Amino acid sequence: MENPVQDRINSYLEDAIGAERNFEKALAAFGNSGEQTEVQTMLSDASDKAKTQHERLEALLVRRGGSPSESKAMLAEMLAFTPLSAQAGQGAAEKNTQHLMVTFAAAAAEMAMYESLATAGAAGGDAELVELAQTLQREELDDYEQVWSILRASAADSFQAELDKGKSPEEVLRPYLEDAIAAEKSFETQLLGFSKEAVHPEVQQMFRQHAEETKEQYRQLTARLEAMGGSTSMLKSLLAHVFNFTPKIAQIGHDAYERQTQNLMMAFAVENAEVAMYECLAEVSAIAGDAATESLARKIQQQEKNTAEKVWGQIAPAANRAMEEVRKKAA
Ligand SMILES: [Fe+2]
Ligand SMILES: [Fe+2]
Repeated sequence: MENPVQDRINSYLEDAIGAERNFEKALAAFGNSGEQTEVQTMLSDASDKAKTQHERLEALLVRRGGSPSESKAMLAEMLAFTPLSAQAGQGAAEKNTQHLMVTFAAAAAEMAMYESLATAGAAGGDAELVELAQTLQREELDDYEQVWSILRASAADSFQAELDKGKSPEEVLRPYLEDAIAAEKSFETQLLGFSKEAVHPEVQQMFRQHAEETKEQYRQLTARLEAMGGSTSMLKSLLAHVFNFTPKIAQIGHDAYERQTQNLMMAFAVENAEVAMYECLAEVSAIAGDAATESLARKIQQQEKNTAEKVWGQIAPAANRAMEEVRKKAA
């Protein structure tokens, strides 16, 4: 018996399972690295939680006639964790701070994923799925808030750890700024791509507008770096590398509506990663006594927060539209 709506829901469930499995592994690795024990404990606990999450999703998938496979996980592919752990040249404490930023973005991505899953469940009349998706979303929100509550202290501690090695405040601050500049460069390109792929005019417009805003952020950050005597050649962004912007999702055969929803989820993760990045930049600038960089970081952070909110508002409508499309094709 053909049931395209159920098939689509099951493929979302498989995706979510794959993502949680991936996060379970990544968070366990994060918990084992660095030197900030409070951060490590929190990330290890989040790993244990991810395990129970994919187990609950697997149980539901089996009840819906599916079988958990090791295959594709769109979200897991979008958030590439491995290069981060392998990245060298950072202090042990800084690594912990970066892991917090990545986890913050991942928790945001998962909140978006469960928003879309709950929407699909509602469209398919599956109350049990809606309830599970909402429960898991609350758990992700809990991770998100926990990370936020210790992010600044972690950044301050990392900064101090580098000063203790004999570096000057400016020497420690500059890489943060360089990283932000490289991230903005990469995000601008990506936002333009999201805009082109968007089906709804308001989504298209939102992405284009933020691409322009991002370009301006890049310009202002670069001016700030130059004022500090730095140059933007050869910048590599750690944060931008967390996002794998060319996942293989296109070949799975998802339609344009599906793609739009995925881009929105990805964008929500990116904007939140930026919110965390600017929180750290503002904090270390404040400690370094660099008021100009601090206020620029706060100004840009507000733009990222506003964008994250706008993106969030588009996720459920986009997910709904994608499900309607499945129905139409089935009819
Ligand atoms: Fe930005
Ligand atoms: Fe942004």
